[in-house]
Amino acid sequence: MTQSFSPPLVKMQSLHKSYGPAVQVLKGLDIEMKPGERVVVIGPSGGGKSTLLRVMMGLEKIDSGSITFGGKPYISATNGKTIIDTDVRRLIGMVFQHYTLFPHLNVLQNLILAPCKVRGETKASATQRAQALLDRFGLGAKAGNYPAQLSGGQKQRVAIARALMLDPKLMLFDEVTSALDPELVAEVEQVILQLAAQNMPMMIVTHDMWFAKNIASRVIFCAGGVVVEDGPPEQVLGSPKEERTKEFIDRVFHIHH
Ligand SMILES: Nc1ncnc2c1ncn2[C@@H]1O[C@H](COP(=O)(O)OP(=O)(O)OP(=O)(O)O)[C@@H](O)[C@H]1O
Ligand SMILES: [Mg+2]
Repeated sequence: MTQSFSPPLVKMQSLHKSYGPAVQVLKGLDIEMKPGERVVVIGPSGGGKSTLLRVMMGLEKIDSGSITFGGKPYISATNGKTIIDTDVRRLIGMVFQHYTLFPHLNVLQNLILAPCKVRGETKASATQRAQALLDRFGLGAKAGNYPAQLSGGQKQRVAIARALMLDPKLMLFDEVTSALDPELVAEVEQVILQLAAQNMPMMIVTHDMWFAKNIASRVIFCAGGVVVEDGPPEQVLGSPKEERTKEFIDRVFHIHH
């Protein structure tokens, strides 16, 4: 069989987003992501990286522009009204910088809540899948623990497992190791690298140069609300073409190494 043409996994066109009249964050952002790509987004603080991911997750409205997912309309905005296809949104999982587990539920309950509620999966089936995921992430013994009884690294691994319970076709990671003590960073990055090895498409915001180099199939430098540079990690991180990218990488990434 010949390989048929596949549409981009995500196509963002001319995204505009502002918070009130004074704060224009996305100023006509265009990004196209192919199936299987792992895109690391870097850029100055306040440049709109989190906003971009939150828009993709359907958590923020946009002023104008559109996003397709798997070739189908996902988000669009006209006359200031944002339309989101919630069935498509369910195909995307997100993990944030700050822990977002439900504090009153134990690890297992955190994992099975959405599958049982959203999809009507039986408790037995969801529990079995949850336990398998926890085992895979080295958390098998923690199923009965409450979030307050976990380390930061364990909490983030649980948050990733929880997102995976809904079988996402794209994962978004927003600085998921930034709030962690340095010795806990690696265990979370290893879990994400494990997902990468299984070809999970992802978009990742990180300030960790080692991680960016190891996880990215592509790096995008965003500043001033637009894409400034976009290319393979060796190029964008190693020998950027744009002066603004070079300055940013020298300033932000090289201090840590
Ligand atoms: N809910 C909000 N209301 C008003 N302004 C906001 C809101 N969220 C973000 N902003 C502003 O939008 C801009 C972009 O913020 P965003 O959090 O997307 O940046 P970022 O690139 O993720 O930064 P960082 O690297 O510091 O995480 C900032 O100027 C921020 O102050
Ligand atoms: Mg951010």
